[in-house]
Amino acid sequence: MFPGIARFREPQTPMPITAFDIKDPALAPAGRERIDWAYGEMPVLRTLEERLGRERPLEGIRVSACLHITTETANLARVLKGAGGDLVLCASNPLSTQDDVAAALVTHFEIPVFAIRGEDSETYYRHIHAALDHRPVLTLDDGADLVSELHSHRPELAAEMIGGSEETTTGVVRLRAMAKAGALRYPIVAVNDAQTKYLFDNRYGTGQSALDGIIRATNILLAGKVFTVVGYGWCGRGLALRAKGHGARVVVTEVDPVHALEAAMEGYEVMPLAEAAPVSDFIVTVSGDKHVVDRQHFELMKDGCVVANSGHFNVEINIPALESLAQSRHRPRPSVDEYRLADGRRIRLLAEGRLVNLAAAEGHPAAVMDMSFANQALCAAYLVQHAGTLSHQVHTVPPELDREVARLKLAAMGIIIDRLSAVQRAYLGSWQEGT
Ligand SMILES: NC(=O)c1ccc[n+]([C@@H]2O[C@H](COP(=O)([O-])OP(=O)(O)OC[C@H]3O[C@@H](n4cnc5c(N)ncnc54)[C@H](O)[C@@H]3O)[C@@H](O)[C@H]2O)c1
Repeated sequence: MFPGIARFREPQTPMPITAFDIKDPALAPAGRERIDWAYGEMPVLRTLEERLGRERPLEGIRVSACLHITTETANLARVLKGAGGDLVLCASNPLSTQDDVAAALVTHFEIPVFAIRGEDSETYYRHIHAALDHRPVLTLDDGADLVSELHSHRPELAAEMIGGSEETTTGVVRLRAMAKAGALRYPIVAVNDAQTKYLFDNRYGTGQSALDGIIRATNILLAGKVFTVVGYGWCGRGLALRAKGHGARVVVTEVDPVHALEAAMEGYEVMPLAEAAPVSDFIVTVSGDKHVVDRQHFELMKDGCVVANSGHFNVEINIPALESLAQSRHRPRPSVDEYRLADGRRIRLLAEGRLVNLAAAEGHPAAVMDMSFANQALCAAYLVQHAGTLSHQVHTVPPELDREVARLKLAAMGIIIDRLSAVQRAYLGSWQEGT
């Protein structure tokens, strides 16, 4: 079908699972139930499973995916495997793995997984290297740790590589920096930057799931509380919107004047974090930036303040600074660490500063990951179809794929929209007609 890529393909014998590293295979039945439950909310992915299963665009293609091991990821994996992909998975965060899902992937879908919830840093990277031992020609990444490790420690793999895709804002930022420095050695498609990804996943996904994580972790009422959102990008917009819906008094802190202005006109209080810290009941970071909540903010926080992060890495909250200020720490609830400072104030850090929606809840709901992962599946096929033709840069998702995902989602939701008439199409493409 695409003769140029024949050299990337393996003989088409099914790969026996020779290696995996998961917590407990006995958890598989529960994981399988939850994966199928999530699939019920993923109509676009189901459509693609049928289509790509027929076309087999990934036949024999070795794929390594570094993603959050959740029910939604399992459904993406089944689609990629059904499309012919020879797939292995590792975790993109030590605290986001759902061990029952990992077990079901190995046992029911025969997909090797290297991920255990709560793994230490050494194990996390060992698992990434296990995924690289698969000698992928396609990578799927969420945060760019897989691509970064490949370039830093396994550069010989880059020569064979067809391409990769990146799921999240922070990963795209890292990969653009690599491309700018001339260090990126194969093409990447920025799935995050598809409209059908960030407008929905980052906004409505994070809006719902970060609150879900905070509520599950604390069970504290949001109504009437001061809820500060640090960073008013796509995730921040969703989080502020949903916190407002719970009756919280929402404060936004920003460094970008346009985003700050938008937040102010949306009706939120906008102020520096140093002003927000003393009055906040909750402070939640979604900035993709480092140490946005720092020592000077902890010094100002009121007793009992809940601090959480829903940005990609656990660097947004300066945890070492909090530890150095604290006299003691204890864990009153599973995802809560309560630090007591010298003056008696308590600061409650959720999920060790890692993505609160994945570490304290289950991540985004399946219906929104349906669109993100439909983009992933279509981009994997697109990369293979264009093997050898794309430059070693970060590419945007082709707009026709983006629109295809929106069309499929609308159809699944039973929503019909109008079409341009011939007159309207001509008008919108012309410049002569005025008042
Ligand atoms: N939790 C999840 O499941 C999930 C989902 C999608 C994205 N993410 C991650 O969330 C983070 C944010 O993603 P996004 O798409 O909203 O990014 P974005 O670029 O749209 O928004 C980030 C915002 O933070 C602001 N910011 C940066 N430094 C700041 C500072 N010091 N103080 C206040 N504001 C600051 C920026 O000006 C920007 O408006 C990224 O790390 C991304 O990878 C997480």
